[in-house]
Amino acid sequence: MYDHFLYQYINGILKKETDWTKSDNAFYTRFLANIPEIRVLYDELYVTHPAGKESFGQLIQTIIQAHKNRPADLKQRDGTKEDQDHWFLSNQLAGMSLYVDRFCENIQNLSSRLDYFEKLGVNFLHLMPVFESPPNESDGGYAVSNFRKIDARFGQLEDLKSVQAEMLQKNMYLMLDIVLNHTSRQHEWAVKARAGNTYYQDYFHFFENRRLPDEYDRSMPEVFPESAPGNFTWIEECRKWVMTVFHSYQWDLNYSNPHVFVDMLDNVFFYANLGVDLLRIDAPAFIWKQIGTTCQNLPQAHTLLRLIRLCVEVASPGMALLGEAIVAPAEIMKYFGTGNYTTHECDFAYNATHMALQWDALATGDVRVMMAAQHEILKKPRGCSWITYTRCHDDIGLGYEDYMIEQAGWNAFAHRNFLKNYFAGLYPGSPSRGALFSFNPKTGDARISGTLASLCGLEKAISEKDAEATAMAIRKILLMQAHSFFIGGLPMLFYGDELGYINDYSYLDESEKSYDNRWMHRPVMQGEKLKRLDEKGSPEERIFSGTRRLLQIRKQLPVLADTGNLIWLNPHNIHVASFMRRNENKILYGLFNFSGKKAFISWYVFKEAGKHPNRLHDHWHEQDYEPGEDHEYFTLEPYSFYLIEGY
Ligand code: GLC
Repeated sequence: MYDHFLYQYINGILKKETDWTKSDNAFYTRFLANIPEIRVLYDELYVTHPAGKESFGQLIQTIIQAHKNRPADLKQRDGTKEDQDHWFLSNQLAGMSLYVDRFCENIQNLSSRLDYFEKLGVNFLHLMPVFESPPNESDGGYAVSNFRKIDARFGQLEDLKSVQAEMLQKNMYLMLDIVLNHTSRQHEWAVKARAGNTYYQDYFHFFENRRLPDEYDRSMPEVFPESAPGNFTWIEECRKWVMTVFHSYQWDLNYSNPHVFVDMLDNVFFYANLGVDLLRIDAPAFIWKQIGTTCQNLPQAHTLLRLIRLCVEVASPGMALLGEAIVAPAEIMKYFGTGNYTTHECDFAYNATHMALQWDALATGDVRVMMAAQHEILKKPRGCSWITYTRCHDDIGLGYEDYMIEQAGWNAFAHRNFLKNYFAGLYPGSPSRGALFSFNPKTGDARISGTLASLCGLEKAISEKDAEATAMAIRKILLMQAHSFFIGGLPMLFYGDELGYINDYSYLDESEKSYDNRWMHRPVMQGEKLKRLDEKGSPEERIFSGTRRLLQIRKQLPVLADTGNLIWLNPHNIHVASFMRRNENKILYGLFNFSGKKAFISWYVFKEAGKHPNRLHDHWHEQDYEPGEDHEYFTLEPYSFYLIEGY
């Protein structure tokens, strides 16, 4: 809506501070286009705040400054990306998440590893948090004490800049985190707050006594009930309670204070101007707190994200946003935006629901729960995308709804118990070697830790020197990876999985890690394992070359770009997940047998979506087929998959 005074105000500033008719014209146009919405969203949160007006002025200045600081090559890349129309939906992208220190010691060394990613087919790197974080209370870098200083363990800002420049040369993409919800208690704001500075105490949620914390606690779940029970921590120095939803050393920021918003937006721009292509917004579900609620997924959290998105569109339009919302399926969806804001919030979310459903299918050999959840997952709007994955640095939460399990004919409580026991290796006959994470005795809830390989049975098979079980585990690993690479979205491998790393239990000997068993699946890369890549037939070589081939196949087929073209085919067989990806000139069928037995599926599966291909080519097995009659069957081997193009 046209707001004369707002336009006059913003025009005045922009005309004074920018070259608005020439080099800054695109920025000027974007700013004018977005300013009314920015104002509306900002006012929703801050209009009544005493510092609201002053902070709005700072917000405008922050955006202008971000544009001025943006290097010329990034501005050029912004233009190229805009011309591509949703550059991030492309099937050419494949990512990997990695801890720099555990992967190659420091950032400098990364540059000599870029050819490793090229060899594998990965061109999108998610560097796990590299900014300063106290070593003995770091939560893997998610407790940041300085948002702009690279932790000495990893190197310096210059190192990151030079790797980013090299990556740019190779047309690779960079993803970093912004830990938006909290800071380390060693961050300068927290240090000042502890010392009694009330201006900075307002950056956090401080309380004089237990009255309000108790009230909050009544409706707030616990994130780490084993290692960090409760949501508040007593701070002796200032004799107050502070909100700490995650660990006691991670202090939740108070976004009802506009100064916090503007300062953190400035950090967002700092990352944008380092050349980040995709910014992973850590734990966005938690950023707004309100007494009497779970303090998760609140409408104001979405308002904040939309506001960030609008500001980023103005000053660093080439940077996409990923909301790390690992919440219930219907809630995840809202991070893509709703109503008028559909596709105007986060560009990406993790497909955490489908990730967990893949594990469900692997344990049960049955895809009915997976299918029961699809009506929700398919609501993802066109123009947004998923990060698809089988494992990441975090635990696996069985976050889908009970009714989805019940639709498959099971009791939800018993089913979840089975899955947890199965992957923890407690269920009789289970080949998995994982562990329960964050068991909550009050609710019986738990999540699952363990590497892809250990959960798929490789650890057990190797320790028992069982060649057949090893082969079966490798089949499962590739089945899981293939499924996540082909359902639509940007595949994000977790480092080490491409080499079949099994659990590493050495974290138990390190006091700063031993309380958190997620460290079992965060390996330290070893030269030995890499050498085994050259040994034909070793598990490392088989897994690596299988993963590489999958990525190659994916890159050859534009039909796999995430244009919202996924169609699930009728569940002819409860063991087989079958889908179709289709564009104007190609059709690709994906068939995945999650059971340990042969499965049979009618040839009719290839016809039911209206197209009747005469010839079929399976890219994975490099085999051609003539479709059989409807009453005849296509046979799928145990834990196998087929990537079939129809002609
Ligand atoms: C995110 C991270 C997780 C971390 C938490 C708190 O969920 O992925 O590793 O513990 O945020 O920052």
